Amino acid sequence: MLESKTLSRRGFIRNTTAAALTGAAGSLATAIPQASAQNREERLSIPKLADGRYDFDTPYDRGGSNCRRWDLPARLYPDGEFKYGMGIASMDFECPPEITGALQDRVSHHSWGYLDSTDELVDEIVDWNERYHGLDLDARMITMSDGVYPGIIAALRSIVSAGGKVLLTTPTYSGFYVMASQARVDTIDSPMRYDNGRYEIDWDDLELKMTPDVRAMIVCNPQNPTGNVWTEDELLRIGRLCVERKVVVLADEIHSDFVRRGHRYVAFAGLPDRAVVENSVSFNAVSKTFNLAGMRNGYFYSKSPELLVRVNEVHRADLSTLGVVANIAAYQNGREWFEQVNAYIDDNHALVEAFVAEHMPTVGNTRNEGTFMTFLDFSRTMAAIGADELYAAHDMATPEHYFRDWLVKGTGVFLNTGSDYGAGGEGHMRMNIASSRQVLRGALDAMAGAVNAVV
Ligand SMILES: Cc1ncc(COP(=O)(O)O)c(C=O)c1O
Repeated sequence: MLESKTLSRRGFIRNTTAAALTGAAGSLATAIPQASAQNREERLSIPKLADGRYDFDTPYDRGGSNCRRWDLPARLYPDGEFKYGMGIASMDFECPPEITGALQDRVSHHSWGYLDSTDELVDEIVDWNERYHGLDLDARMITMSDGVYPGIIAALRSIVSAGGKVLLTTPTYSGFYVMASQARVDTIDSPMRYDNGRYEIDWDDLELKMTPDVRAMIVCNPQNPTGNVWTEDELLRIGRLCVERKVVVLADEIHSDFVRRGHRYVAFAGLPDRAVVENSVSFNAVSKTFNLAGMRNGYFYSKSPELLVRVNEVHRADLSTLGVVANIAAYQNGREWFEQVNAYIDDNHALVEAFVAEHMPTVGNTRNEGTFMTFLDFSRTMAAIGADELYAAHDMATPEHYFRDWLVKGTGVFLNTGSDYGAGGEGHMRMNIASSRQVLRGALDAMAGAVNAVV
C-alpha cells in the first residue's frame, strides 16, 4: 500500500509537473533544468555553488507534494493547460538544508506524543526580532499559534463586539475577509489611491471610514499584495488616528523579513509613541521567510498586557512537533540562506519591472518595496478580451476570474485574481515572483506573448 502510494506520487511528479515545466520550457529555447523527483529524493539538501551561494537558479519541482501553489491549479486544469504556478504565497525554493537536517534528526526518534514546550522557539523569536528589526520583545508577552490566521481571528473575536467592523486599506490580503467572516465581524474597505506607481493611503477616506462601529484596523506591513512597506510616519499617523478613534490596530507583519534594498520595515510595536504601541497587537511568523507555511507556526504579541489577555482568552493553538523543530532550526541556522534568498527576490522584482516595462507595456506595474508578490494591472488586456461582458456567461465570479482562466488556457500561467483583494483590486492580478529566474522568465514570456497579441 505504502509502496504503491510512493510510486503513484512519483508517477504524478514525472507525468504531470515535470511535463508541465518541460512544456512550459517548450516556448523557451531550452528545457528548464530542474531538481528532478529522483535526485530530490537522493540528495538531502539544496546544494551550494562553488562560491558559497545557495543555488536558487535550478528550478525545484514541487509538483506532486500536495502543495497549493502548484498542485491546486494542476487539479483545476486536469487537461494539462496549467504550466506555471505563480499564485499562492509560498516560495519555490528548497528550504535551507539545516531545516531538513533538523527534521530528519527528529524523525529518527519514532514517537509523536504531545509536545512539551515552545520556550526555545520563543527565545529564538525574540532574538530574531532584535537582530533583524531592532525590536525589543518580552518573551512573556508572546503567544505561539499555529499560523497568523488563528491569532487574528481570536483578536477580532475578542476586540470587535457584535455588529462591529474591522477596517482595511485595500487592495489587501484576501485572507483578512476570511478571518473577519470566521470571527463574525464585518469588514469595511478604505481604497488606497494609486499615485506615481505607489499605493498611498487616502487619509480623508480613512478618517471617514472610522465610524464608531469600527473597533479594529488591520495594518498589513509590508502590504500584500501591493508590496508597500509603510514608513514610520505613515504608521504613526495611522496609529494616532486609531488611538483617537478607539480603534485597536492589528498589525500583520508576516512579510516583514522581505524588504527590498532602500526600504526599511518598522515594526508597529517599535514605534516611538507609547500610546500608539499599547493600542496594538502584532502578528508574525517566519513561514514566509523560510517557506514553512505548511509547518503551521505563527505568533502574536502586544505591549499592552490587557489587550494580550483579551486575545489569549479566546485563542487556542496546539503546535505540531515537527513545526516547532523546523522553526527553531530556521531561526538558529537559516540566516545565511535567508539573506541570499532575500537578495535573489529583490533581483527578481527588478527583472519583473524591467520586463513589464519593455515587453508588456500595456500592463501596469507597481514598484514593490517588500514581499515576494507583485500586483499587475491587466485592465487593458481585460478590456481587449471583453472580460467585463463575458465573465457571467462563463460562470465566473468576476471579470478577473474570467481573465485568470483565459491566461491559464492561453499561456499556462496561473495568477491570483485582484478582485479577491478588496476595493481597488479590479483589473489586477497578483503574481508570486519567488521562483527560479528561468521559471519566472518563462511565465513572463508566455504572458507577454498572449497579452501583446490582443492589446
Ligand atoms: C498578509 C498575510 N497574513 C497572513 C497570511 C497567512 O498566514 P498563516 O499561513 O500563518 O496563517 C498570509 C499568507 O499569504 C499573508 O500574506
